[in-house]
Amino acid sequence: MNVSVTATPPTDLDADLLLIPLTKDPADVYVDVLADALGDAVRRAIGDFEGEAGEALLLYPEDAIAPRAALLGLGEMEALDAEPIREAAAAGADVATARTVETAAFLLPEVEFDVDRMTQALVEGFILGAYQFREHKTDEPTPRPETILLYTGEKERGTAGAQRGRIAAQAACTARDLVNRSPDKKTAPLFAEAIQDSGAAHGYDVDVWDQARIEDEGMGGLLAVNRGSFEPPTFSVLTWAPDDAINDRPLVLVGKGVVFDTGGLSLKDTKNSMDLMKSDMAGAAAVVGAFEAIADMGLPLHVIGLVPATDNRPGRKAYVPGDVITMHSGATVEVLNTDAEGRMLLADALSYAQSLDPELVVDLATLTGAVVVALGNNAAGVMTNEDDEASERLYAIQRAGERTGERVHPLPMYADYKKQLDSPVADIKNVGGRAAGSITAGKFLEHFIDYPWLHLDVAGMAYTKESKPYRPQGGTGFGVRLLADFLADYAERENATRDA
Ligand code: BES
Ligand code: MN
Ligand code: ZN
Repeated sequence: MNVSVTATPPTDLDADLLLIPLTKDPADVYVDVLADALGDAVRRAIGDFEGEAGEALLLYPEDAIAPRAALLGLGEMEALDAEPIREAAAAGADVATARTVETAAFLLPEVEFDVDRMTQALVEGFILGAYQFREHKTDEPTPRPETILLYTGEKERGTAGAQRGRIAAQAACTARDLVNRSPDKKTAPLFAEAIQDSGAAHGYDVDVWDQARIEDEGMGGLLAVNRGSFEPPTFSVLTWAPDDAINDRPLVLVGKGVVFDTGGLSLKDTKNSMDLMKSDMAGAAAVVGAFEAIADMGLPLHVIGLVPATDNRPGRKAYVPGDVITMHSGATVEVLNTDAEGRMLLADALSYAQSLDPELVVDLATLTGAVVVALGNNAAGVMTNEDDEASERLYAIQRAGERTGERVHPLPMYADYKKQLDSPVADIKNVGGRAAGSITAGKFLEHFIDYPWLHLDVAGMAYTKESKPYRPQGGTGFGVRLLADFLADYAERENATRDA
């Protein structure tokens, strides 16, 4: 989608649809301005308009002013924030899509709100709201919106926000595409190829390890999960290392890449369980999307991505409950449930990350159903190893979550929880029972790390069965905008402390 800020007044623009975000009870002077520009139809429409967030009202102003216009509700002025702005823009995208609009133009509301945050949220909401997954459709596509214009009065005003919004939203759409893709089109080797294509298109480096290399590295957890599969595992290493990187030690992003999770021999039920498991690589998809955003934004940070990938199946050689696996770190794990597979391959990736001497590691994983019980579909769980540095980052990622609408909520990591993983035969077992299932998964991963670390359990957030504002049914792209915002903020802070 083309996105640009314009100084040409909306009535002189060649747009198919004018989008007019409005808070509840807009100021009379602003209504007068709109009526002067667009005619009295606007005044009558505003009379019929509540202004609730997400509400849209289409109107047809007099000829030659604009072919169509839509009022978009922003909710109460006092509660105005990026999230209702995204919702309003997504409602605008719905209007545009239903009427085969090619060019839509936003008129920025006259409200006290940072203009770059405003344009960013408008663009994000519009692009994310207009998203459709058509990869496997064979019918003719209907025309899609191609261009978004934003009238801010001046060409420079709001441009940075608009471009950030475009980059972040498009990167989130990449993650959605990967999650929505049919599992047989994203086996571990095909998924790794897709990551390579993304790297080539966006200018970051991708190195894909094959089975032999994974064996050389001794990644017993990834190999154990892969034993029931017909397809080999892959381990993709993504690198963004610009010359102007301001961090000496890399930031590392790790994504769970289980391209399909049957549960293995601990087989899942189909309905509302296995039928969702093409999304079990959503953590990995978020890392790929984040790399696209980081590269497109040209962030001055050294970032490494790690994506261990395989499917989890009950094949002839599948690992079984009772198997003791020697992991990359050398630790042994008693497998008591083959459906707790994500932690097996993440543990190997996290243990490998140790060799990169990281400043911070953030992993994203659709790891436990328990996190959906705890937090539902409104926030991801975040856990840390609670060292001082990680605690600071925890606060930073929570704020990034509020800014992006991709919320993360902390879960405790008391040492007592670790006891649930005691094994009579190995160093640790891979399940800790029903109580605090997300936390014991976190404690399992913590066993393999010794650096500042944030673990995001995104099982409730990666995929939505019903459509929500700016999130159509399917993969949500959760984590991409969160990471992009968190890292951009990280770079800004580092720069600020250096200059000081
Ligand atoms: N991929 C699942 C977790 C999941 C559940 C993701 C629902 C998205 C939606 C994970 O591999 C899994 O099966 N976890 C088990 C762990 C248990 C066996 C300890 C679970 O949550 O039931
Ligand atoms: Mn599983
Ligand atoms: Zn899984």
